[in-house]
Amino acid sequence: MRAVTAPDPGGPEALVVSEHPDPTPGPGEVVLDVVASAVNRADTLQRQGFYPPPPGASDILGMECSGRIAALGEGVEGWSVGDEVCALLAAGGYAEQVAVPAGQLMAVPAGIDLVDAAALPEVACTVWSNVFMIAGLQPGETLLVHGGAGGIGTTAIQLGKALGARVVTTCGTEEKVAYCRDLGADVAVNYRTEDFVAAVKEIGGADVVLDNMGASYLARNVDALATEGRLVVIGMQGGTTAELDLSVLLRKRGAVIATSLRARPAPEKEAIVAATAEHVWPLVADGSVRVVVHDRVPLAEAARAHQLMEDSSHSGKIVLVTGRS
Ligand SMILES: NC(=O)c1ccc[n+]([C@@H]2O[C@H](COP(=O)([O-])OP(=O)(O)OC[C@H]3O[C@@H](n4cnc5c(N)ncnc54)[C@H](OP(=O)(O)O)[C@@H]3O)[C@@H](O)[C@H]2O)c1
Repeated sequence: MRAVTAPDPGGPEALVVSEHPDPTPGPGEVVLDVVASAVNRADTLQRQGFYPPPPGASDILGMECSGRIAALGEGVEGWSVGDEVCALLAAGGYAEQVAVPAGQLMAVPAGIDLVDAAALPEVACTVWSNVFMIAGLQPGETLLVHGGAGGIGTTAIQLGKALGARVVTTCGTEEKVAYCRDLGADVAVNYRTEDFVAAVKEIGGADVVLDNMGASYLARNVDALATEGRLVVIGMQGGTTAELDLSVLLRKRGAVIATSLRARPAPEKEAIVAATAEHVWPLVADGSVRVVVHDRVPLAEAARAHQLMEDSSHSGKIVLVTGRS
């Protein structure tokens, strides 16, 4: 099969498309014929040598995909060869085939195109697990989503609104501000020209913050929290080390949490996948949460897809298509 790796860290041109052995399913796994995968910002870090796959995982990039089941491993129940699915992966999605634990498969939500379904697993599982399972966002609360026009951001805005929260978001251009408002954000702030802390405080502070920036936003995020607010850090686009005034957090009885989905053990991923399929898929099927695909790029042009993400000109997800339909 053809697959994409980054044997020598570097820019988008470091991605290499080459032949690899076809995978075989281990016990409890299935092999998928991959129809599409999708780009995540972590893939660009992996390509640069900063984010290695978890121990034992393939060095083929790609943390999600969609496709059809080609083979079932020993002990797999409830799935059949030919089923159309999407999957959360530790690695291996940028390929024509991938082996995946059956517990990380999800049926394609009703009415969703099989290619577009590749854009769902990573963002849906990340947002559901962090904003709802961990931070416990409630209807009527305020959710602050940073990077609202990105893959995670577009999903978090829509899920927050669908489940009754007030959503404030940040993004870097006026075009993206308008885009996020169209997606349902109650308040969208251009972080280059406006103070997001002031905008959030004006409406009583954020009960939950979903943060992709890390160090550069830590103090401002804590400042923006409401009493008993929960800040969940999932990205470090603004660095890893910052000073935190604990007295501010203490006065608010606030919480700062940081998580990574990819590194979780398989049983935890399976629980998140099951909860996501139960709670998020009906909202995708009824149209309350749209799959936002910015572009479809052939797998062989993965380097162009990475460049697109690093230019930050995208809104939503960038999908990689293998050519299988
Ligand atoms: N921990 C986990 O388990 C987990 C799982 C998935 C993703 N993540 C993280 O989540 C983040 C988003 O991932 P993604 O795949 O959705 O990437 P993405 O589509 O590239 O989204 C990132 C967004 O951040 C925005 N941004 C850049 N600088 C910003 C700033 N100073 N303030 C606010 N927004 C800013 C970018 O656009 P503009 O600046 O143009 O608005 C872009 O829309 C990444 O940091 C990724 O590593 C973590």
